[in-house]
Amino acid sequence: MIEVKDLCFIRNDGDNKQNILNHLDLSVPAAQHLALLGDSGSGKTTFLHILAGLLKADSGSVSVNNQELSTLNEQELALYRRKIGLIFQHYQLLDCLTVKQNILFQHKLNFPNQTASEFDHLVKELGLQNKLNALPHQLSGGEQQRVGIARALLNKPQIIFADEPTGNLDQKRSHQVVKLLTELCRERKINLVMVTHSHQLTDYFDQVKVLRDGHFD
Ligand SMILES: Nc1ncnc2c1ncn2[C@@H]1O[C@H](COP(=O)(O)OP(=O)(O)O)[C@@H](O)[C@H]1O
Ligand SMILES: [Mg+2]
Repeated sequence: MIEVKDLCFIRNDGDNKQNILNHLDLSVPAAQHLALLGDSGSGKTTFLHILAGLLKADSGSVSVNNQELSTLNEQELALYRRKIGLIFQHYQLLDCLTVKQNILFQHKLNFPNQTASEFDHLVKELGLQNKLNALPHQLSGGEQQRVGIARALLNKPQIIFADEPTGNLDQKRSHQVVKLLTELCRERKINLVMVTHSHQLTDYFDQVKVLRDGHFD
């Protein structure tokens, strides 16, 4: 569950002050999925980074599963970030690691003493069984993003934040990837916030918000 109240974010570039996010309010109930739209530069990534605990808001409150992010210290924020999954436009896979190693790497860092119990199941659901020993450059864009989704889901996150995950994919692959991502999150009752440029992908979501110059329409 995500509750945002009167959130403001200001960027200071020397003498230049820019109000990037202006008095935003948002409520995403537990397990629901939000699509966040808006033109380039409207503040989508900034907003996602605040929700993910990577940036701090200047004022207002951001509560995720009843945790107020502004009150968390660095250590608590690090713990919070372990409970979320991030998916990126450019996949952010490590070039020199195989698909299998890419999927497991972050889990090993975060949870060194736990086995990745969902690995086989996820690989199957994402159709990556025959690609486990391939390197990222040997995969199509859609396949690389499926690796990104497997990596995020393996950590059993409570919430997934995806920043234009289909930005590099054609229309058909975009629909396949978003359908898969929303289905997997629904099965696991995971909150999903996905930034997209495409109005055609919003049918998969419970709620749609449009950011324009730091305001919701
Ligand atoms: N590191 C930065 N330094 C200065 N301004 C930035 C930085 N990152 C983003 N911005 C500005 O913040 C605004 C919102 O950017 P962003 O959140 O990346 O938008 P979006 O993801 O919707 O394209 C834009 O005006 C952008 O130029
Ligand atoms: Mg962006």
